Amino acid sequence: MKRKLKFAILYGSTRRKRLGIRFVKYLHDQILKNKHISYIVDPLQYKLPLLDRRFDDFDKKKVPVAVKSIQKILDKADAFIVVSAEYNHMPPPALINLLNYYYKEFDRKPSCICTYSVGDFAGVRVQSPLRSLMSQLGSPPIKHGMYQPNLSKNFDEKGIPNHSKDAEERFNIFFKELMWYANLLTGKKKS
Ligand SMILES: Cc1cc2nc3c(=O)[nH]c(=O)nc-3n(C[C@H](O)[C@H](O)[C@H](O)COP(=O)(O)O)c2cc1C
Repeated sequence: MKRKLKFAILYGSTRRKRLGIRFVKYLHDQILKNKHISYIVDPLQYKLPLLDRRFDDFDKKKVPVAVKSIQKILDKADAFIVVSAEYNHMPPPALINLLNYYYKEFDRKPSCICTYSVGDFAGVRVQSPLRSLMSQLGSPPIKHGMYQPNLSKNFDEKGIPNHSKDAEERFNIFFKELMWYANLLTGKKKS
């Protein structure tokens, strides 16, 4: 029987009129459609303060609820999908803030970087910094991802694409690869 995998989608925009949430909803729905488990880690929902102490640095009885709630999700996840736009060619600050709170939770689990933009370039310039960061956190990034230009023209507010066949083909390319790694890396108990 196919193992149900747990994916954590890590999103970084806290803007009032943010668009990337459409892409996040799409990825979340596709994971559920594939009969796996998906969690969205949304900084607007959790409202993490700017980093002072990492999760590991807290007295475990005094961890703020938001920090603990996200830790639980990351800890049980088998793989991570980082969803990012470019803010001046770099990832959004809330995404970097979120990722830096945690460490062990990422260890030896694969990640995938999916980027988007409102314009033509699909935010691909944040691939490099996010790949470096995920590697350093111990979560090797896979070679594929989904890269979405012109997001507002191609996806509606519910995350439904105008061209679903095309979107699904592009989703499947990275998702199959990510599942392969997640099954391999998280299938057995770690030593
Ligand atoms: C502070 C800021 C910087 C931006 N810098 C870039 C950029 O370097 N390259 C780019 O293609 N788009 C850039 N954009 C446009 C974003 O692609 C677009 O606003 C996108 O919707 C941002 O994602 P969000 O809506 O989920 O926050 C920038 C937007 C903002 C708010």
